Amino acid sequence: MENIVLKTKLILCRIEELDGVSRMLVDKAIEATDNSYSPYSKFRVGAAVRLENGIVVIGANQENAAFPVTMCAERSAIFNAQSNYPNLPITTIAIAAKNADGLVKTPVSPCGSCRQVILEMEHRYKRNIRILLYGTDGVYIINSIKDLLPLSFVDESMH
Ligand code: THU
Repeated sequence: MENIVLKTKLILCRIEELDGVSRMLVDKAIEATDNSYSPYSKFRVGAAVRLENGIVVIGANQENAAFPVTMCAERSAIFNAQSNYPNLPITTIAIAAKNADGLVKTPVSPCGSCRQVILEMEHRYKRNIRILLYGTDGVYIINSIKDLLPLSFVDESMH
């Protein structure tokens, strides 16, 4: 028997330390929180995805009285992007959220379903997707969803 320790890595930085393109994407994610339909949780999540050609597509969480039907901001943005610009790889996704007090201090991290969808995009386009998680205390930069989803299930897992 053997203990296996899985490590992960991310960068914590101040918003001012981001490059211009990343900063703009985070700003778009913050703006997208205003498009949230979240009468039940009152938790407004915004996401902005940047495509390979520089186009930015946003998404916001869309809730439903039948709670499980709710769609997260990240998947709203990704599915929107892929539906409108099929075959264009996603290079980066930025995520921001507001609670009753305003923008969250600690970044919100994508839920399990959204992680799985981001993983699918990495596999589809065979390239990492940079993830920027915004909080007023700092921004987490993650270089690939694999860092948030160890032992993941992918197409090859079935062969
Ligand atoms: N939510 C997102 O949009 N993205 C996440 O990564 C976490 C959760 C939404 C779903 C629901 O509308 C609200 O936040 C509370 O769970």
